[in-house]
Amino acid sequence: MDHSNSLHLKPPAATNIKIAVKRIFKRFDGSQVDALQDVSLDIADNEFVTFVGASGCGKSTLLRIIGGLEYHTGGELQVSGRTVAGPGIDRAMVFQHYSLYPWLSVRENIKFCRRLQAHTTDRSSSDVEAAGGRADALLSLMGLTANADAWPNQLSGGMQQRVAIARALMGRPQILLMDEPFGALDAQTREVMHDLILHVHKLEKATIVFVTHDVEEAIYLGQRVVLMAPRPGRIDTVYQVPLPKERTQEMKHAPEFLALKREILNRIRETSGMKTDFELLEKLSKAAAPAA
Ligand SMILES: Nc1ncnc2c1ncn2[C@@H]1O[C@H](COP(=O)(O)OP(=O)(O)OP(=O)(O)O)[C@@H](O)[C@H]1O
Ligand SMILES: [Mg+2]
Repeated sequence: MDHSNSLHLKPPAATNIKIAVKRIFKRFDGSQVDALQDVSLDIADNEFVTFVGASGCGKSTLLRIIGGLEYHTGGELQVSGRTVAGPGIDRAMVFQHYSLYPWLSVRENIKFCRRLQAHTTDRSSSDVEAAGGRADALLSLMGLTANADAWPNQLSGGMQQRVAIARALMGRPQILLMDEPFGALDAQTREVMHDLILHVHKLEKATIVFVTHDVEEAIYLGQRVVLMAPRPGRIDTVYQVPLPKERTQEMKHAPEFLALKREILNRIRETSGMKTDFELLEKLSKAAAPAA
């Protein structure tokens, strides 16, 4: 694999580009290293792209820039062909920590953004009432109808994250940005959430950008897996996932799935800088050991 290969930086020709990341740089104030250095990637409309890479390689920073929650210090971000530098209702984010409003019921949490929009625009209260239909549809999609009137603290972690996803979907975002959304869930719940989010992707036709530490999750969900490397944060390799668009759990045992998983894990190890850290540790422990 040629890791400088830019073949997969663009989705197949003749697809509509939804997100264009063009030579983006990010340097945090006071930092000596670029958190993102010359990052370019085109993401197609309705694509599901996953990001992996060693801790600190800039995955969250890039996602936050796409979401308009962070400013880039160089380059350009285009969404639907327009240059953007800030948040918009076309993009919604879901984080690892679901941060639901504890004083609102499940249903009210899901409808909350609509209530905010009603205050900030000239929407009438009947528009907001109509949103109740969508909230109920999302409750049903997420299997939460029976919990609509529960309080967040009465729900399991998986259920809370389903509420957070429903809340993000409430405003019909064209782009869903997810930062380790299932990182706090147990393995069984994650599996259920994987099939749920693939179902949501198919139904809502959103473009999904998904950051994870879990390579298996990245391959199972993604049409492409983008591997980033740290110091400076950059794109190392973009892998096309050699699986049909419709995924089933059995595919996780397919030889091509396992081969790609091994290849990505090896490459993360090679690019993480951890080897150098281990060598340094070994030197330090030798230096600290009393002479025999
Ligand atoms: N607000 C900030 N101020 C200064 N530096 C920051 C800030 N946020 C992130 N960084 C730095 O930018 C780099 C990229 O961080 P980022 O959180 O994007 O990495 P990540 O790939 O999401 O890591 P992880 O896998 O641990 O979540 C890191 O070196 C981090 O220390
Ligand atoms: Mg992160």
